[in-house]
Amino acid sequence: MLRSSQVLCLALFILCAPLLSFALESPADAPHENVRVSRPKGLYAKMPRVKFPHSAHKQLACDACHHTIHELPQTMRCSSSGCHDMVAPHCPRELRSGRYFKNPFHKGRASCKGCHSSSSAPVQCRSCHKK
Ligand code: HEC
Ligand code: HEC
Ligand code: HEC
Repeated sequence: MLRSSQVLCLALFILCAPLLSFALESPADAPHENVRVSRPKGLYAKMPRVKFPHSAHKQLACDACHHTIHELPQTMRCSSSGCHDMVAPHCPRELRSGRYFKNPFHKGRASCKGCHSSSSAPVQCRSCHKK
């Protein structure tokens, strides 16, 4: 026979299991140190690498940026193959495409720069591309 405390433990475990599999949803899972944003293979970079501070973005939901956490492995990087991995667009359509590496960071309201422009956050190149 199960004791009532054991039943409670089991129930809690079953309830919590789905939460554990989406660990990226808790602020405690965000790195304290600044994170170097990934870059696609073959990029000849012009700007200093961006070091992203999670600490300055605590007010945002994780999936505002980690928009694939519900469908794809949490280890996905911005520039993973098939994601924002296009280095050199060849036509206007590709230039506007979300796959073009620069776009998710500079273009549109949900981008890094787009949100910064509509708030008090800095928009100068050097504020993100620090040496
Ligand atoms: C404003 C955008 C943004 C928000 C909000 C955000 N992140 Fe991130 N996070 C990033 C970027 C950009 C990277 C670097 C991704 C890459 O390497 O391509 C990253 C990387 C990570 C990494 C990998 C760290 C490493 O060492 O490589 C973890 C873990 C992480 N984020 C957790 C979280 C959690 C948990 C939350 C919510 C509490 C969160 N993030 C919210 C943008 C964000
Ligand atoms: C939805 C809005 C939003 C998005 C998206 C966003 N940010 Fe920010 N960011 C802010 C706000 C607001 C601040 C100011 C926070 C503060 O002063 O406490 C900030 C601060 C920063 C700072 C610190 C600037 C400084 O030196 O004071 C950096 C660097 C930065 N963001 C980089 C990024 C990068 C890189 C991305 C994309 C991966 C990004 N942010 C996406 C809103 C956003
Ligand atoms: C709000 C943050 C933010 C601001 C402001 C910003 N960028 Fe970026 N930029 C990024 C992120 C994030 C990446 C992708 C990670 C990386 O390349 O380090 C990126 C990548 C790039 C790249 C592709 C990589 C390379 O070095 O060739 C270029 C070019 C670039 N940015 C130019 C600029 C210029 C020019 C400005 C100013 C007019 C600017 N960015 C302002 C966040 C920003």
